[in-house]
Amino acid sequence: MNCAERLVEIFGSQAEAARALSLDRALISHWVKSGYVPARWAMEVERLTDGRILAVEVLDEAGTKKPVRVKSRPDDFVSAVPGSEALNKFAPSKRIQSFHPPQRTLMGPGPTEIHPRVLTTMSQPAIGYLDPVFVEMMEELKSLLRYAYQTRNALTFPISGPGSVGMEFCFVNMVAPGDKVVVCQNGVFGGRMLENVIRTGGVPVLVEDTWGEPVDPQKLEDALKKNPDAKIVAFVHAETSTGAQSDAKTLVEIAHRHDALTIVDAVTSLAGTPVLVDEWGIDAIYSGSQKCLSCTPGLSPVSFSERVVDHVKARKDKIRSWFMDMNLLLGYWGATTRTYHHTAPTNSLFALHEALLLIREEGLENAWARAHRHHVALKAGLEAMGMKMLVAEKYQLPQMNAVLCAEGVNEAEVRKRLLSEFGIEIGAGLGPLAGKIWRFGLMGYSCRPDNVMLCLSALGSVLSDMGLPVHVGDAESAAHGAYAQMHVKDAQRKKKAA
Ligand SMILES: Cc1ncc(COP(=O)(O)O)c(C=O)c1O
Repeated sequence: MNCAERLVEIFGSQAEAARALSLDRALISHWVKSGYVPARWAMEVERLTDGRILAVEVLDEAGTKKPVRVKSRPDDFVSAVPGSEALNKFAPSKRIQSFHPPQRTLMGPGPTEIHPRVLTTMSQPAIGYLDPVFVEMMEELKSLLRYAYQTRNALTFPISGPGSVGMEFCFVNMVAPGDKVVVCQNGVFGGRMLENVIRTGGVPVLVEDTWGEPVDPQKLEDALKKNPDAKIVAFVHAETSTGAQSDAKTLVEIAHRHDALTIVDAVTSLAGTPVLVDEWGIDAIYSGSQKCLSCTPGLSPVSFSERVVDHVKARKDKIRSWFMDMNLLLGYWGATTRTYHHTAPTNSLFALHEALLLIREEGLENAWARAHRHHVALKAGLEAMGMKMLVAEKYQLPQMNAVLCAEGVNEAEVRKRLLSEFGIEIGAGLGPLAGKIWRFGLMGYSCRPDNVMLCLSALGSVLSDMGLPVHVGDAESAAHGAYAQMHVKDAQRKKKAA
């Protein structure tokens, strides 16, 4: 018997031997097949078998099976290969090493920090996108997404691409050239919806609201009365550029009263604040993996009602994108027998599965409550430093807090110092709000008390250092006070319920 076979006999099976050596079973099987244990395992094998297999036996056997080769070529052999000089012409001028990102506290508008469980899952070995094990995982992923969206919609799945691809997917499938679409804009992302309508050949009707305010339902009602032929209403539920939340339920009701379908942007709202697709009757919705889902960027979960599927199937013209044609993608995500559509980003999908599982374990209501709790504490701290929220309290998104920058301060310098001195990222204002607001995200795994306290402490330190009348410690104390009050209320509520 060779050393590999003896090792298996001592441990009882290949699996047990693999476990003892902390190796993959396939490797032990490979040793048995090749008839020897590689020399570098000699000492470990002697130790684990209590000397029943000696290191010297392993070394002797490995030496005869796989003799050590003496180098026969110089180390600079590669450059001697004819033609390699020509390849080196394109080599980068600077010596490039492996990339290791620094540890950051991400408290901006996204992406968020990623839960360690999600990162571990993402680094598992690759498998094929039609592997039966993967297909099984896809089904679980769809059902976890239905939970996150609170829907029974069969067509609920993640699109390969960021939130912008989810947005475009909705417009390209649902808007035929000449279709009238009402777009409600109260920030940057409503503007992107408008751009999508124009590019798909639709006829846009714009309903505008001031940035920092929610979409006004009355304005939508008026626009639909004036445009009874409008087929679709599109709006952003949680406007990331301002931190304002619109009343999705009411806006969908109005659209349906006027016989229009709805497209809802839930990129920042999903899992941070209630999104009840079935209860509110939303027709088409998209989100992003990198916000309150705390996953790696690059996936866009979408959900479509039967009405939308019928609407798209009834189109007489060809969808103007091959990649995004819903009818074609259904062959991969919708059907029971799956066929190749595109190479799905398998490891990112493992990660999304784990991120959604974490939400399922926590419970959606608890995730919403967590965002609210830390929002109240963060706000108390910011206000203690004299800052004011951009959005009126009733419409504030807990997961996206926009505050007016302290007066007389170089806002970009503050963000720069937060990043360089404390490793904290916060967001700047966009469009008309550039230079006027800071945006503090409390999304997904970033939404934690340690992040709130670190952020307040760092901001207080930077502002006071820059000469602002901020008393270091006031913000932390206000946040602690807010947490304490919430704990008392929670305890009272629990006592009453018992
Ligand atoms: C409300 C909203 N919609 C759409 C997008 C676009 O998503 P992505 O950047 O993933 O393409 C974002 C991104 O921040 C967003 O906040």
